[in-house]
Amino acid sequence: MDVETSGKEQNTLDQQVPSVRKRRVGRITQNFFLHIHDTRVHLHSLKPTYTFGLGMILGFLFLIMIFTGVILMIYYTPSVETAYQSVKNIVFIVPGGRIVRNMHWWASQGMVIVVFLHLLRVFYTGSYLGNRSLNWVIGVVMLIVTLLSNFSGYLLPWDQLAYWAVTIGSNIAASARELTDLLGITSVIDPGGFLKKLLIGGETVGQPALSRFFALHVIFLPLTMLVLMSVHFWRIRKDGGLSRPAQYAGDKGGTNKWYAWPVLMWTELGILILVVVVVLFIALLTDAPLLEQANPSFPENPAKSPWYFLGIQELVSYSAFSGGLLIPVLYLVFLFSIPYKDREDRYVGEWFSGRKGLKLVLYSAGFALLLVISQLFVMVRYGWFRDWFPGISQWFVILLNPATITAVIFILLAEFTRRRMNSTRMGSLVLFTCAFVALVVFTVVGIWFRGPNWEFFWSTNHWPVL
Ligand code: HEM
Repeated sequence: MDVETSGKEQNTLDQQVPSVRKRRVGRITQNFFLHIHDTRVHLHSLKPTYTFGLGMILGFLFLIMIFTGVILMIYYTPSVETAYQSVKNIVFIVPGGRIVRNMHWWASQGMVIVVFLHLLRVFYTGSYLGNRSLNWVIGVVMLIVTLLSNFSGYLLPWDQLAYWAVTIGSNIAASARELTDLLGITSVIDPGGFLKKLLIGGETVGQPALSRFFALHVIFLPLTMLVLMSVHFWRIRKDGGLSRPAQYAGDKGGTNKWYAWPVLMWTELGILILVVVVVLFIALLTDAPLLEQANPSFPENPAKSPWYFLGIQELVSYSAFSGGLLIPVLYLVFLFSIPYKDREDRYVGEWFSGRKGLKLVLYSAGFALLLVISQLFVMVRYGWFRDWFPGISQWFVILLNPATITAVIFILLAEFTRRRMNSTRMGSLVLFTCAFVALVVFTVVGIWFRGPNWEFFWSTNHWPVL
């Protein structure tokens, strides 16, 4: 207050202060944006190289999916007789239909890629530590929902790509049958068959599968995602905003904070526009695939699942049970359990937990790359147990294949690191990195190096003419 302010003016100001404060509080409580963010956000969390805005980009991609999806739904009919033609109409007759479909497709592909990048950033900055374990778990569920949303949409065009990709996907769901067949109990208890039936409503993909996938894709999964996303965002505020290194953790005075409104709002609006423009640009240049109408009696060879499941399909080619069920379940259990196994909160908010962690990550990535590629080399060049000993028991094939061997070696290495360095965070860094690198290598092999009959080929030019 100016020392020269007269007593009368002072009184008027004093009377105004509560109303000004009330107005400001009113502005904040009525501001939707400030319900998502805190009124002031920490400068460290705003560093672009900390989050890369990946979570926000995911949210915006989801918005594009909803917006374009609602338009597509007006013209699409979920019946095996008409689905393909309705998609063709969207592409060739409905004005703007091709762009809307392309945008929907590319936003969905973007979501799958960005959700993994966001997972990497959250893990490597130790952002599941502290009180953020619940939000990590919600995140893992969102990762699964993202993949399922994408997979359920795959079938809807009812073309050859869709039909055979979902056929392969549903066979992966029935992977437990390899074990129950071996035990001779499939006729009594058949969890694989049950899961497959639950997914596609029968033994082969048909109208029941299309109806189920349609319901999942347009109602159940988007609603689940909306609820999860709301809880995810709410938890970020509840957990004290985004994570930050321990040295800023006690900064309650707010010297390192910035007002969220309006700077952050404009930045986020800018990112939204950028995301829309990038998706639109790709949609204008590249069409979403649409092959001939599905023909159940004419299988594609190779029949490939959607690209993000090709790592699993590669593992299934070694053993259906271990590749399609055991390893994916172990991987999910590991992801869910990370924040409960590793409680070294001092590593929160710092990329790779410092130089020591970064070195460990690089060594682990190199080791995983070498291990997986050398096993693949042996397998492609010299075959595996079944080729060496044709009469060998199936138990060997299930228990000793590149998927199980890799998993056991990774777990032992992580446990060794944890004990040697007396640090759960370092153990987690090793296991997470090794598993992720292996997943990427198996996926790359499935996408680019597998051809007819799932044989290895250096390029599609070498595929035999069938
Ligand atoms: C569709 C899926 C997802 C959406 C839309 C989403 C959205 C977001 C957003 C907007 C943020 C804040 C900004 C940022 O970190 O970029 C965030 C933070 C976070 N996310 Fe996600 N997320 C998703 C999936 C995941 C996954 C798969 C995980 C991990 C398993 C995860 C775990 C977390 C955690 C722990 C935070 C807090 C990070 C911190 O405090 O630094 N989220 N998410």
